[in-house]
Amino acid sequence: MAGLMAGFGCYTHAIVRGIPTSLAKESLRTCQAEVDLSKAQREHDAYVHILRTTLGLEVVVLPAEETLPDCVFVEDAAVVCGDTALITRPGAESRRRETEAMKGALKDLNLNIVEMTDESATLDGGDVLFTGREFFVGLSKRTNQRGAEILADAFKDYAVSTVPVMEKLHLKSLCSMGGPGLIVIGSSEPAQKSLKIMQQMSDHRYDKLTVPDDLAANCIYMNLPDKGQVLLHCTAEEYPESVKVFDKLNDYKLYPVPNSEKVKVDGALTCCSVLIDKKSSN
Ligand code: GLY
Repeated sequence: MAGLMAGFGCYTHAIVRGIPTSLAKESLRTCQAEVDLSKAQREHDAYVHILRTTLGLEVVVLPAEETLPDCVFVEDAAVVCGDTALITRPGAESRRRETEAMKGALKDLNLNIVEMTDESATLDGGDVLFTGREFFVGLSKRTNQRGAEILADAFKDYAVSTVPVMEKLHLKSLCSMGGPGLIVIGSSEPAQKSLKIMQQMSDHRYDKLTVPDDLAANCIYMNLPDKGQVLLHCTAEEYPESVKVFDKLNDYKLYPVPNSEKVKVDGALTCCSVLIDKKSSN
């Protein structure tokens, strides 16, 4: 297995996308809930503000597209590691065209583009957990074995293991990286089972940070030159018990980010950006 990649968590750029009004009624969702579109917009603006203004990333904003109700969830359209960007083939037919604008933006950033053209393959970026040493790919309703194989071909420097995703939409509906070697994981049985499988598959001993709420386990970790270790996580209004766990991370700058509306259509924090480190690429 590869050692920890240099610059794990260091990012210079983020790609995000606007929210179409069609999100409220037409985006895919596992539970029926009324979305407050204005509030979703305000929360998304706050998310982009943290990336751009607070953290100083260069943020590329792709325009919202009404015929693509889920297009704000850009993470599913591409997986970027180093100077390579894999354009995915999203598992939901209605989301396939989301990759077009993403491909254009990644080309403009001079990344090496690899496209998942095999029509038997599906992969959503929400199923891809990159630990800095290896990839775990969730096999879910959206991502299949062939998708995982193509990802392994695209990122040959890293081991790729698959993990069945039980009950939830994506692997990262249950977990995310909270630092180099630290997996943030929910407390539910499916979350704990997924973690156990990842631990069994890996040569590396990962530390874990267990939070009471699975959705709170989806965080964004960064290690930025002028900020140090940064964690974007859920707010105390949404998940008070989980925030008590994050508050114990003394060495981090913690940024609670509201996400009460996009979560109603299965959008977590990582879903809304693709993060890129141009310093490590070119
Ligand atoms: N609403 C996000 C998804 O289902 O893909």
